[in-house]
Amino acid sequence: MPTLFSWEFAADPYPAYAWLREHAPVHRTRLPSGVDAWLVTRYADARQALADQRLSKNPAHHDESAHAKGKTGIPGERKAELMTHLLNIDPPDHTRLRRLVSKAFTPRRVAEFAPRVQELTDRLIDGFAARGSADLIHEFAFPLPIYAICDLLGVPREDQDDFRDWAGMMIRHGGGPRGGVARSVKKMRTYLAELIHRKRDALGDDLISGLIRASDHGEHLTENEAAAMAFILLFAGFETTVNLIGNGVYALLRNPEQRERLQTSLAAGERGLLQTGVEELLRYDGPVELATWRFATEPLTIGGRRIAPGDPVLVVLAAADRDPERFAEPDTLDLSRGDNQHLGYGHGIHYCLGAPLARLEGQTALATLLTRLPDIRLAADPADLRWRGGLIMRGLRTLPVEFTAHS
Ligand code: HEM
Repeated sequence: MPTLFSWEFAADPYPAYAWLREHAPVHRTRLPSGVDAWLVTRYADARQALADQRLSKNPAHHDESAHAKGKTGIPGERKAELMTHLLNIDPPDHTRLRRLVSKAFTPRRVAEFAPRVQELTDRLIDGFAARGSADLIHEFAFPLPIYAICDLLGVPREDQDDFRDWAGMMIRHGGGPRGGVARSVKKMRTYLAELIHRKRDALGDDLISGLIRASDHGEHLTENEAAAMAFILLFAGFETTVNLIGNGVYALLRNPEQRERLQTSLAAGERGLLQTGVEELLRYDGPVELATWRFATEPLTIGGRRIAPGDPVLVVLAAADRDPERFAEPDTLDLSRGDNQHLGYGHGIHYCLGAPLARLEGQTALATLLTRLPDIRLAADPADLRWRGGLIMRGLRTLPVEFTAHS
């Protein structure tokens, strides 16, 4: 039985997941926080569990006594004001809120946003291109999504660096000391609530205005729900995209043949390999290792194991996406992989709402980096790289690279 959730595990969890898939595909384990939870690691079970409405997202369904002691370590249990966001609620509230935000966060709006993402990407690369080296996490993967989401939401440019700082605090200390994180979350929430209030009087073309407009057209959305919605868009769309870019570039640098294929295809002006490639990078080493918490509302069976009401269930997307029963040669990175129905964005009613934006950011970031810095290479021994392995997300803390300097 491999050791789960250790430091070595964060650096490469895949051998442990292979073991679990084979020997204990639905496995009850004690998490570092002291909570007992089921880990679901096979693709077929994972996909089924993600769509199973008997698994609630509402932490109130968890064991009441642990809950009352505030000791479960389950995010959200003590943050009542954040409870109304999409990832923590079930139908019918989920249906209503998701429909509402979908009206404002349309694929068309995201497509219109492409030039802005390109501009942001170029500006960030301009910041280090002349130096010949960079830490791609801090100078590129981290700021890109935060500025992009702030723009999309309608946070004025002059306030966006505050968001960068608050988000930095959240990502640096995620799973660590809670004080600074709680303060940053609070500042963000207060700021968003005020912004929503201000925008009511002067609606613009941004996502927050869209949310207010949608709520004013018959659908009910309280100001608190709107603030929680803006917050979850930031929260869900931030570290995920940092890790998509970080893990993605790292995987390409470690697989020179694949990277060369992609560079050749980009130089020929093709987009096809870039598109399938970003999906493959999500499957191969996706940002979201485990889907967010689910709790059984009634007795059920997954993969032959009996799950009791109240039991937490964690679907291990990273394990399911390497299941040899579903993917041929799952441990091989193949940017042109077809039939790639990975679970990196989840599945079912909580399927990632931001997938079109994530794809846009991931594709723009990778294509621009490889085109503008064609000889980009890793400037550290992979064994020395540190991974940030909270429970849900997995990504690099730093990604030092070198390349020929450009002015
Ligand atoms: C939900 C992954 C980027 C917004 C999810 C879920 C996954 C996921 C796995 C489902 C979680 C579950 O069922 O427990 C990702 C990945 C991303 C990404 C891998 C980047 C590569 C984004 C972005 C946004 C976003 C950019 C928005 C700006 C959301 C929201 C939900 C969600 C709002 C909740 C949807 C619901 O519960 O109905 N995402 N995400 N995500 N994502 Fe993303």
